[in-house]
Amino acid sequence: MAEFKQAPAGAPMAQQLMTWVDNRFPATKLYTEHLSEYYAPKAQNFWYFFGSLALLVLVMQIITGIFLVMHYKPDAALAFASVEYIMRDVPWGWLIRYMHSTGASAFFIVVYLHMWRGMIYGSYQKPRELIWIFGCAIFLCLMAEAFMGYLLPWGQMSYWGAQVIINLFAAIPFIGEDLSLLIRGDYVVGDATLNRFFSFHVIAVPLVLLGLVVAHIIALHEVGSNNPDGVEIKAKKDPKTGIPLDGIPFHPYYTIHDLIGISVFLLIFSAIIFFAPEMGGYFLEYNNFIPADPLQTPAHIAPVWYFTPYYSMLRAVTDPMVNVFAAVVALAAVLAVLKGGLAGKWKVAVLVGAVAVIAALKLFDAKFWGVVVMGVAVMVLIPLPWLDRSPVKSIRYRPSWNKILYGIFVVNFFVLGYLGMKPPSAVGTLISQVGTMFYFGFFLLMPWWSRIGEFKAVPDRVTFKPH
Ligand code: HEM
Repeated sequence: MAEFKQAPAGAPMAQQLMTWVDNRFPATKLYTEHLSEYYAPKAQNFWYFFGSLALLVLVMQIITGIFLVMHYKPDAALAFASVEYIMRDVPWGWLIRYMHSTGASAFFIVVYLHMWRGMIYGSYQKPRELIWIFGCAIFLCLMAEAFMGYLLPWGQMSYWGAQVIINLFAAIPFIGEDLSLLIRGDYVVGDATLNRFFSFHVIAVPLVLLGLVVAHIIALHEVGSNNPDGVEIKAKKDPKTGIPLDGIPFHPYYTIHDLIGISVFLLIFSAIIFFAPEMGGYFLEYNNFIPADPLQTPAHIAPVWYFTPYYSMLRAVTDPMVNVFAAVVALAAVLAVLKGGLAGKWKVAVLVGAVAVIAALKLFDAKFWGVVVMGVAVMVLIPLPWLDRSPVKSIRYRPSWNKILYGIFVVNFFVLGYLGMKPPSAVGTLISQVGTMFYFGFFLLMPWWSRIGEFKAVPDRVTFKPH
């Protein structure tokens, strides 16, 4: 047992109390290590707001969720009416419900911007690979959480959206039918589905999410934050104090800095909650104000906006698209054999592998490959730290054309998102096929393109203009 410390004689009550606590729980140690003596780089800009905003929205979702559960009924016969009751009769229920439903969209906006910041500043590169991987796991949990939450109001879109997505699992060869039955708990989406989604939405996934967020922040504090220059501040420390020369204590500097971000966020968020909580059908679809009716399929079923880029990629995979995939695999194999400088046995292995992949592509139907493409579109983020071979982290010091490429990536993501909301059309499918190829090309060809071009010299110290 560590030795007990004593507060100086006559010390104020608060200090005595803190000493008592510190002898039993490392409160002061945690405060200094993670706040007052956690040194973050000086030059963090507004992109660095989104981590703390994500934390804020997470807490808001949990608190509003707790209040919603007090009045919500997870029963297919009662769920819809209980949500209407919350909206109309429970004092402030409408606010709590809108904070939670609009909060889901806010969560994705904040997290997408947070991930984007990671991409443009190369924050996933060594030594922050694990922060990134925990982040990707958080993103997956968030998607599961949002998907299951959307079923709970038991509106038409809740019902039919779940029906479409769960049916996708049935396309997986051999285990698909059983898997979708397991997820549904019935042969159609019904009360059993609602109960298990409720259980996962309110307890299982949030627990995992919280654990992952803690791991994400512990990993961040282990290696320290990156910055827009991509300079490692720990490389230049004050010889006397050992404090990074470009580091400033998180508290009070970044707590105050983040308060500005939080204030702006709350202004925008309140404006949306009070004036456009459904955001014209984008945050809460109009069809979801009609009770679920298993006998009436809505004319057009589309997921909420944050899923639509991936939904677009799913729909892009038609039979001709599978042929394109097969052609790409064949071309990649031929290039690897002819230009890859591989030893003889590896050439054979590449060719055999390519034939196996092409055979599999042709063996299973396009719907299955659509599901695979949708899943891989998210999973491909995980190996980003190893796909990116750029010698510099930040986009500031990468070749100028990288900015255009990253710009096209964003536009493409928006276009895919837009198309995913619309009913399928011949032109839309063609555009989403090109978009899907670009999305995957961006990541899978990164080991090649991230190395080429002229890189600018990275400064020794972070560039900082006091304002
Ligand atoms: C609930 C969701 C999340 C929360 C609460 C969260 C929280 C945070 C916080 C507080 C920071 C430090 C402040 C900042 O750099 O902005 C941070 C940094 C970071 N996060 Fe997240 N995060 C979440 C999701 C994600 C996701 C989905 C990813 C990526 C897939 C990600 C990747 C990163 C990276 C790479 C850093 C280090 C950034 C740097 O130092 O430049 N995070 N996160």
